[in-house]
Amino acid sequence: MKTPEDFLRENGFTPAAEIDRQAMLGLFLSEMRKGLAGEKSSLMMIPTYVGVDGKIPEGAKAAVLDAGGTNFRGAVVSIPPTIEEKRNQPMPGTKGEVTEEEFYSAFAAEVKRVQPFATAKKIGWCFSYPAEATENLDAKLVRWTKNIEAPAIVGQKVGEELLKRLGGGEIAIVNDTVATLLAAKATEGSKTYSSYIGFILGTGTNAAYVERNRNIAKLPALDPEGSMIINAESGGFALFPQSAFDKAVDAKSGNPGFQFLEKMISGAYLGPIGLEIFKAAAKAGLFSKKASAAVTGLGQLETIDLDTFTASAKIEGRVNPLESVFADADDARMARRLALPVFERAAVLTAIHLAAFVIQSGAGEDPAAPVAINADGSTYYKTRSIRFGEAVEKELDDMLVRRRNLHYEITPQVDDAPMVGAAIAALL
Ligand code: BGC
Repeated sequence: MKTPEDFLRENGFTPAAEIDRQAMLGLFLSEMRKGLAGEKSSLMMIPTYVGVDGKIPEGAKAAVLDAGGTNFRGAVVSIPPTIEEKRNQPMPGTKGEVTEEEFYSAFAAEVKRVQPFATAKKIGWCFSYPAEATENLDAKLVRWTKNIEAPAIVGQKVGEELLKRLGGGEIAIVNDTVATLLAAKATEGSKTYSSYIGFILGTGTNAAYVERNRNIAKLPALDPEGSMIINAESGGFALFPQSAFDKAVDAKSGNPGFQFLEKMISGAYLGPIGLEIFKAAAKAGLFSKKASAAVTGLGQLETIDLDTFTASAKIEGRVNPLESVFADADDARMARRLALPVFERAAVLTAIHLAAFVIQSGAGEDPAAPVAINADGSTYYKTRSIRFGEAVEKELDDMLVRRRNLHYEITPQVDDAPMVGAAIAALL
């Protein structure tokens, strides 16, 4: 009788225990270096023109926008982190396609609402999509991720376009990983860190870190002794072998052919991978007839439902479709055994790529001054089927501390880090 693990392997799915960490780490570092050198790479390695050495003015209030995944927020933010007038609404383009005017008018209206409470001139905007940064901190959208439907915006400088609709002004736009990194730096207190990483694992995934200018070949005019934050767009990493399930999820996504790592580890995709696995397992005869028919008829599966089911948990007031699909105890056991590896693999891949950032930062040799990793996002903190953070740290301890004598620390989570960081970018 075929085991669920055999079935996963036969479909090209590498279980966590069998991932060759050292080989993947090598590939990740080589993609990073190629990206920095301006060579062909699946990692964009975007220079952000934002450093970490400026002194943040305290007390001033900045109008801030945060466009992340399914929601967008407006607020007035000051440092030490204080958030006022916060309002949450659906991100334009998440509920069907929007035009250029619909897109910008939503943000313009929000700026107009919060600006009367601000004292700083510049607006801060956390914009969590792959965008080239300009020297004056505008963001030119390369492509959408997270299934946003607003095609007219691709290629535009979103800051310039927004300011046009506001009749002028100034704006500083940063990616959420950059914002998270800045927020960690601003709240470190008396701690000593040798470098900083901002990491997001929520609907999507990405990381930013501090790089020495001399390693950034794209920008010859920079002071070679200086450094700046690089937005790696790490979710684009394409060299980890895809299983048949990953390929199916990619083909059905809004951006096929892109964001392969993101599609293996982040919240928008773990549920869909689970559903692909269940459907293929039904075909392969791993479930009862009844469960096979039920799972084959399931149109979609959210990560939160896959996760809570796998954890044998329930969320009050939420109907989990897997409860009825796998009502039979044997089916449920089989489903959990097939789903758990999805989360375990995500944790190992998360650790491999975080290790690569610590190594590339060139810091962390002194245990008294570790590299600060500020992690943010629901998948990192709210996954229940495994202890995600602990699994990541166990891997990092081996890859970094034990094998390389490099030191890191996952810093305490900063509330609303993307907004806080966007305010810092506006106030610097
Ligand atoms: C985007 C990144 C972002 C990450 C986390 C990805 O889909 O491409 O720019 O930082 O999600 O929100």
